[in-house]
Amino acid sequence: MGARLMEAEVTEVVEAYTEALAEQRRTASDPGGLLTLGIETSCDETSVAVLRGGHEVLANVITSSADLHNQYGGVVPEIASREQVQAINPALAEALTRADLTFWDISVVAVTVGPGLVGSLVVGVAAAKALASVLEVPLVSVNHLEGHLYSNLIENPEAGIPAMGLIVSGGHSLLVKIFDHGIYEIVGQTLDDAAGEAFDKVARYLGLGFPGGPAIEKASRDGDPAAVAFPRALLGDSYDFSFSGLKTAVMNYVRKQGDSANIADVAASFQEAVVDVLVRKTVRAAVDNAIPTVMLSGGVAANTRLRDELSRACHEAELTLYYPSMQFCTDNAAMVACCGYHRYRRGIRTALDVRPDPNLPLA
Ligand code: KG4
Ligand code: ZN
Repeated sequence: MGARLMEAEVTEVVEAYTEALAEQRRTASDPGGLLTLGIETSCDETSVAVLRGGHEVLANVITSSADLHNQYGGVVPEIASREQVQAINPALAEALTRADLTFWDISVVAVTVGPGLVGSLVVGVAAAKALASVLEVPLVSVNHLEGHLYSNLIENPEAGIPAMGLIVSGGHSLLVKIFDHGIYEIVGQTLDDAAGEAFDKVARYLGLGFPGGPAIEKASRDGDPAAVAFPRALLGDSYDFSFSGLKTAVMNYVRKQGDSANIADVAASFQEAVVDVLVRKTVRAAVDNAIPTVMLSGGVAANTRLRDELSRACHEAELTLYYPSMQFCTDNAAMVACCGYHRYRRGIRTALDVRPDPNLPLA
C-alpha cells in the first residue's frame, strides 16, 4: 500500500517536471508570450483564433453557415454541424497562415465545450483534442458564456473586476456578478425567450430574414422608436427578463394593422422596448449591488442602440461600461482563446476525454 502511494507520488512529480520542461521549451521559443489557439463551434459559426499572451489577436477566422439557415428562419442543427465538419480544417489552416505560424508554435489549445448544439460542439472539441494530443500541449475547456464575458478583456485586459456582466445572445440573457476570474453568480436570467431569440423571432415574423438582430437594427434606421408603445416586462424588483410577451404584442399589433403596418416603425419600437428593459435592469443590478463596472457581451451587444443607450445610462449612474468591438460580439474564437489563456494561467487543464455538454451552466 505504502509502496503504491510512493509510486503515485513519483509519477505525479515526474509529470509535473515534464510539463514544466515542456512549458520552458514553448515559452523559450516564444518570448512574446504564450500562443493560445482557440476553437469555437457552439452554434452556426466555425471560428479559429490565435492570441499571443492572451490579448494580442494574431488571427480570428470566423466562417458561418447563416446563409444556409436563412430560408428556415433559424439555425438547423444538422446543417450547421455538417458545414462545420467541412469548415474546421480550412479555418485552422487559415488562422495559422494569418498568424504566420505553424501548429508546432502553439502552446495551449482552448475550445468551447458548451453550452450549445451538441453536433456542432463535437466538431470543435474533436479537433481540439486531436491537436492537443499530437502537439503534446495542454487542452483547456471553455464555457461559451464565460468566453463572451472575456470578449471584453481582449481589448481591455485591465478592465475592472468586480463587474456586472450582461450577456445577451441568441440562447441566453444573463445578468452575472463577476466577483473575480472564474467566480460568478447569476443574478438574473430570461424566463422565456433570450434577447437575441426575440430579435430572431420578430424578424422572421416581419419577413426581415435571419439572423434577426442585424435585420431589425437595419429596418429600425428608417423607423420611429416611439411610434408604438410596446410593453416592457420589468417584473417588479426582479433582475430576470421576459421577452415572449413583447414578441406576442408585436405579432398582435401587426395582425391588427394588416397592410397598413409600418414595418420600420414596428422594428424600431420593438428594438426600443428590448433595449429599454436591458438597460434599466443592468444599471439597477450594478447600482443595487454597489458594483461600479458593467460589461456588455454576446451577439446582441453588437446592437448600436443598446451600446448607445447603455453608455448614456451608465454615464448618468457613474458606472464604467465596457463593450467589445463588433468583431468580438457575435460568436468568435478570439474570446475563447482569451478565456482559455486566463484559465490556463490559473492552472486549469482539461483531460483529453472531455465531452461536450450542450447544457453546461456558467455558475
Ligand atoms: O452570441 P451569438 O453570436 O450566438 C449565441 O451565442 O447565441 O448571438 C447571436 C444572436 C442572434 O440572436 C442575433 O440575432 C443577435 O445575436 N444579434 C443582434 C445583432 N447582431 C447579432 N441582435 C441585435 N442587434 C444586432 N446588431
Ligand atoms: Zn454566443
